[in-house]
Amino acid sequence: AYVVTDACIKCKYTDCVDVCPVDCFHEGPNFLAIDPEECIDCTLCVAECPVNAIYAEDDVPSGQEGFVALNAELSKLWPTITEKKDPLPDHEDWAAVEGKLQHLER
Ligand code: SF4
Ligand code: F3S
Repeated sequence: AYVVTDACIKCKYTDCVDVCPVDCFHEGPNFLAIDPEECIDCTLCVAECPVNAIYAEDDVPSGQEGFVALNAELSKLWPTITEKKDPLPDHEDWAAVEGKLQHLER
């Protein structure tokens, strides 16, 4: 499955959800999570994300391995999102910030 990682936190551009053929994105307050049981590894969402937050689960950046389990957990808790919406208001300030996990809201 594909996995949403740190860069998405506090940005949530949502370009990714428009292209997913199986609607496997789930929306939290400031992050999206992919349901690994629904993702068919089509790769379409990867190029859509302006901050390159999406990786194959075997290819997540070093130090971000925990996002694999986090996507599985949070996708079960959050509702599906299938249509693009505006990014979060402060997205420009947070787009280049690394290590945002402490800001993740559930
Ligand atoms: Fe959806 Fe394809 Fe991205 Fe998986 S890889 S989340 S199926 S768009
Ligand atoms: Fe997040 Fe990128 Fe989608 S910022 S909402 S993974 S387009």
